[in-house]
Amino acid sequence: PETGTQEFPIPANVFAETVTSVTHYTDRLFAFRMTRPQSFRFRSGEFVMIGLPNAEKPVYRAYSIASPAWDEELEFFSIKVPGGPLTEHLQKIKEGDTVLMRKKPTGTLVHDALIPGKRLFMFSTGTGIAPFASVLRDPETYEKFDQVILTQTCREDAELTYGRELVEHMRTDEMMQEIVGEKQLLLHATATREGETKGERVTTLIENGKLFSDLGIEPLDPKTDRAMICGSMAMLKDVEKILQTRGFEEGANNAPGSYVVERAFVD
Ligand code: A2P
Repeated sequence: PETGTQEFPIPANVFAETVTSVTHYTDRLFAFRMTRPQSFRFRSGEFVMIGLPNAEKPVYRAYSIASPAWDEELEFFSIKVPGGPLTEHLQKIKEGDTVLMRKKPTGTLVHDALIPGKRLFMFSTGTGIAPFASVLRDPETYEKFDQVILTQTCREDAELTYGRELVEHMRTDEMMQEIVGEKQLLLHATATREGETKGERVTTLIENGKLFSDLGIEPLDPKTDRAMICGSMAMLKDVEKILQTRGFEEGANNAPGSYVVERAFVD
């Protein structure tokens, strides 16, 4: 079979779920949805290990769940890496195919790891937006914060489509409008290698203040603001450095703080 599914028996102790839809955004990015096991519980922002039943010992990679905890399906947003041990095959999946998922979700980009605040900043590059796609669809986010600010930095404009469509959906869908309620959801998306925003990494925009002036909001303040960061190793390091310089302290599930970082990667 083309995708190699069903060639090998399903390993013990993993969920075997069925793909319900696949959307390709660019030649490097795609999203898919699959069935959710009845017994599977997770917190918005967590990740799971996923794989394909195409080998005796399947390759598993950490994937943030992009759908919120209340969704009856599971959504993932993935990069396509040529020759990547998992994504080389995963990018070819189609509706009806089987995806394996280990049973235990985990992660730090969760409300439990943050102390209360007024504004929630979610800083992402590339597919680092995935956990925030979950968090920003969760009612708890708007119960806990007055303003939610999502940033995404990508090389090309087309890579920003998933996030833009998601935020547009939050603004136009009746059920999503109810989730956001009187609170505010803002998006700042920049393509660094083309167009008007060329060179505008989020780190640069925080340092020169353009992020805040563009959105018409106050600069970062550790007294009122909380932050979640997800992206490449270099981006995590740079954003963390900025936050720490401004008095933010890293949180964890067992010791909440003013910012949290996810260090689980795909390929
Ligand atoms: P740039 O185009 O200036 O390198 P990558 O594909 O290399 O992970 O990059 C994805 C996006 O993240 C790109 O827009 C890239 O900007 C940006 N980026 C890379 N490194 C950093 C960093 N250290 N801080 C902020 N943004 C970064």
